[in-house]
Order: sequence, then C-alpha cells, then structure tokens
Amino acid sequence: MLGDKFFSNFSKFIGQIRENRLNWLPVLAIILVGLLITQSLSGIGIDFSAAGIDFLAEGETSQEAGGAEEVDLSEVSHRDTELEKLIYERQSVRNYQDEEVSLDKVARILWSAVGITVDGVTGPTRAAPSAGATDPLVVYLAASNVENLEEGIYRYHPEDHRLSLSAAGDRTVELAQAGLGQAAIQEAPFSLIITADFARTTRRYGERGERYVKIEAGHAAQNANLMAENLDLSGVLIGAFHDEQVQQVMGDIPEDPLLIIPLGRRN
Ligand SMILES: Cc1cc2nc3c(=O)[nH]c(=O)nc-3n(C[C@H](O)[C@H](O)[C@H](O)COP(=O)(O)O)c2cc1C
Repeated sequence: MLGDKFFSNFSKFIGQIRENRLNWLPVLAIILVGLLITQSLSGIGIDFSAAGIDFLAEGETSQEAGGAEEVDLSEVSHRDTELEKLIYERQSVRNYQDEEVSLDKVARILWSAVGITVDGVTGPTRAAPSAGATDPLVVYLAASNVENLEEGIYRYHPEDHRLSLSAAGDRTVELAQAGLGQAAIQEAPFSLIITADFARTTRRYGERGERYVKIEAGHAAQNANLMAENLDLSGVLIGAFHDEQVQQVMGDIPEDPLLIIPLGRRN
C-alpha cells in the first residue's frame, strides 16, 4: 500500500521531469543542501569514499545479520612471515648494550616512522598514515653513541631524508631527568622523540584533530619498533615526562613532544 503510493508518486515525479513541467529551483536547492551536509560531515573526518562498509540496520546485532556467536580462527604460527615474527618478538626493552649503533640503522628507523614512501596520486606518501595527509608529526633523534654522528639532538627531515642539528652535545642525561629519571633514556645509544605540530591537523579537523595526531604518533612509533626489531634493536615507548622540560632540553623546539623511544641492542 505504502509502496504503491510511493511508486505512483515517483512515476508522477519522473513524468513531470519528462514533460519539463517541474520547477527545477527547489530540486536544485535540495541537492545543494545535501552536498553541504556531506561536506560538513567529511569536515569532522567522516569519509564517504570508504568502500565496503556494511552497516547494520537500526537495533540489529551482527548475530541477527547472519554472524555466528563464536568463531574459531586459524592458528597464527608467528613464523610464517617475517612480519609475524617481528610482531611476536617485539617487547619493551629498557636495558641496552653499551655499544655504538650504525647511522644506517638509525636512518632506517627514522624513515620507518615518518619517511617518504611511494609517490602516490596526490603526492608522496608517508610510512605511517596521516589524517587528511596533514602530516603533523616531527621526529627528532637524540644521539649519544651513533657511528659517524656527533652527540646531540637532531631534527629529521623526511622530504629529503636528512638530519639537522637542533641542540649540540650529549643531552641524554637532561632528557632522562625530564623523563622522570627513567634510566633507559640515558642508557640507550639513541632515542627517537616523536613530536607534533597539532595545528597542522586541527586547522582542518578542529578539536577532533587532536585525537588524530595522537593516533598517528602510535602508528609511527609501532613502525619504528618493528623496524628496530628487524635490525636486532629494541626499545620502549616513554610517555611519562615533563613536556616543557623535554622541549627545552631539545633546543627549545616549538612542537609538542608525545613519545620518547630509547633504542639499542637488548642487554
Ligand atoms: C603510550 C605509552 C606510554 C608508555 N610510557 C611508558 C613509560 O613512561 N615508561 C615505561 O617504562 N614504559 C612505558 N610504556 C611501555 C608499557 O609499559 C609497555 O608497553 C607495557 O608494559 C607492555 O609491555 P610490552 O611492550 O613488553 O608488551 C608506555 C607504553 C605506551 C603505549
């Protein structure tokens, strides 16, 4: 009944279009309002281009939609692929061998965090995903025992894969103090410091952008963890530190520090 009524109204609507009797102005207005709503939703990060998302009907559970209550999964061997092995073996390590690390290994780890990868359709892509490709993360290196590199704090520039000095001299003792005295920072031959320029992302996404930046820091950190593991190095994420002290020790950097990751060969 309701369907018949809808169908007859719809046929009438199509007929009017065919006969060109319809006033196009309100139709255009409806299309415009629709577009505006879509735009503002994508402004808060809802991506309509994401394909393959199955939505449940209101009140419907996945079980009613045909899912089983319990599903046994196939075993993961942890050895079938190199990536499985790296994920399996990653652990937080806080004690390191007192030995020099090659600059080549450090470069690979920096690259894995925020380095440039495939030249995508919209321009170069980074090793870790970034909301709207706003790329807010800036990664620094605190070097105290790296081959062919003076002790100091360096900023990593992904665009041309290079370092620039931010603060000269070994800063790891002060950095450890800013990190509530956590000895790993002082012991490690080097640390990555993941910082962010939040404005790059909040300019586009408002307050929600803050969440995106922190999520991105986690992605970059895990990439670095796994690359380190791949190079026989290990580390730990350190989130407990005094932000301003860390900024000052690093040469009064403008970005906000999010994570310190001391790295070295496990003891
Ligand atoms: C956001 C974050 C902050 C962390 N901060 C610290 C920290 O300040 N000091 C520390 O020793 N470990 C820190 N950790 C490491 C956790 O304690 C560690 O991951 C956890 O105990 C699990 O051990 P696993 O990494 O060996 O699996 C942090 C981890 C995360 C994810």
